[in-house]
Amino acid sequence: MGNQQDDRHRLLLLHRWLLITLVVVTALHMHTAEAAPAPEKKKQQKQMVPCMYIFGDSLVDNGNNNNILSLARANYRPYGVDFPSSAASPPGRFTNGRTVVDILAGLLGFQPPFIPAHAMAAQDEYARGLNFASGAAGVRPETGNNLGGHYPLADQVEHFRAVADQLTSSSSPEGKKKMTNQLGKCIYYVGMGSNDYLNNYFMPDYYSTARDYDPAAYAAALLQEYSRQINVLYDLGARKIVVAGVGQIGCIPYELARINDGSPPPNTVGNGAGIGIAVPGITISLGGANRRRSNNNVCNEEINNAIAIYNKGLLSMVKRLNRQLPGAKLVFLDAVSGGRDLVVNAGKYGFTVVDKGCCGVGRNNGQITCLPMQRPCEDRSQYIFWDAFHPTEAANRIIAARAFGSAPGNDAYPFNISRLATL
Ligand SMILES: *[C@@H]1O[C@H](CO)[C@@H](O)[C@H](O)[C@H]1NC(C)=O
Repeated sequence: MGNQQDDRHRLLLLHRWLLITLVVVTALHMHTAEAAPAPEKKKQQKQMVPCMYIFGDSLVDNGNNNNILSLARANYRPYGVDFPSSAASPPGRFTNGRTVVDILAGLLGFQPPFIPAHAMAAQDEYARGLNFASGAAGVRPETGNNLGGHYPLADQVEHFRAVADQLTSSSSPEGKKKMTNQLGKCIYYVGMGSNDYLNNYFMPDYYSTARDYDPAAYAAALLQEYSRQINVLYDLGARKIVVAGVGQIGCIPYELARINDGSPPPNTVGNGAGIGIAVPGITISLGGANRRRSNNNVCNEEINNAIAIYNKGLLSMVKRLNRQLPGAKLVFLDAVSGGRDLVVNAGKYGFTVVDKGCCGVGRNNGQITCLPMQRPCEDRSQYIFWDAFHPTEAANRIIAARAFGSAPGNDAYPFNISRLATL
């Protein structure tokens, strides 16, 4: 009798437990389905273009620096903490989850794991697309040298040249023609310039560029080299080229931490205005001791003004190349308007923290970047910034969606990436 009652009780408990589990699992599942990006919902979505090649810096790097001697690496936790396939080993993205180009690739119909890092890709993946981006890289070859090894724009373009040569080296003229034709249909994403300012021009203790050029002359020099590299891509077969402008880097947590207080941050040398960079086991601070403080308490307007000159020139470059290069279709992405939208409409997007990194150390979590094994903020979707320099996946989603589908002339000039893909 007692045993029977016990059994019934146990059965009841089991039943209840199963029910709760079912509800929880269903809820989780529904939540995942709801939060899942469009490209994963539509598993069967057709790829809009045959291939995608990516050039840039840490905003889009997905692991090309992992095996080189560099402080500009993100292959340690908690980087990638929200990246679906990063359970075994962190993939080297400088954010909690997906980058802008991951999301763009998804919107273009590429299936996860999207476009592989060139440094780790297998040969049979080359024709579908590669990511050549490298943290700390800039347009200028010396940019980012304060952080160690990386691949500047010219190196990334040379890596693509080797790939294009290999792809078009078919023995038959037919095969060669087909491959060249295909390269003209791919999307080429190029995002460069942030480090030419952060890790060059505005680091006068390490670089002489601020003494050699005023902001207008510096932008002109950058754009001359940038234009040269775009021409090389064009000569190698690229036609649909997305050129991303630089965001308001005077407003990133790293800059906010530097300008809004003059006192030294913890664990840094010098007077503390330098860049805090973490690699497993070491924290170093470099340079930047003589930074002038801005009068504006919100952002570093000296940097934003220099960026505005550069972005204006970049848009002119895109317009000019569209006129000069037959068959070329370049699209300029306005990262400043996109970034402003994130802050102005923060509430609408669910952001509650707009000026602080989710993971980092010191003022604004911006004095030292996210350290190995550091515990990040709980709700990453409420932060625009993941660390001192880089947006969260949540912010990247909004930026990518705007680049892909905005109305003509809004964030993308002369039209959005969705249209570029169908041309
Ligand atoms: C992209 O731009 C085109 C016009 O250039 C527009 O028709 C379209 O609605 C925009 N958005 C998407 C997602 O295609």
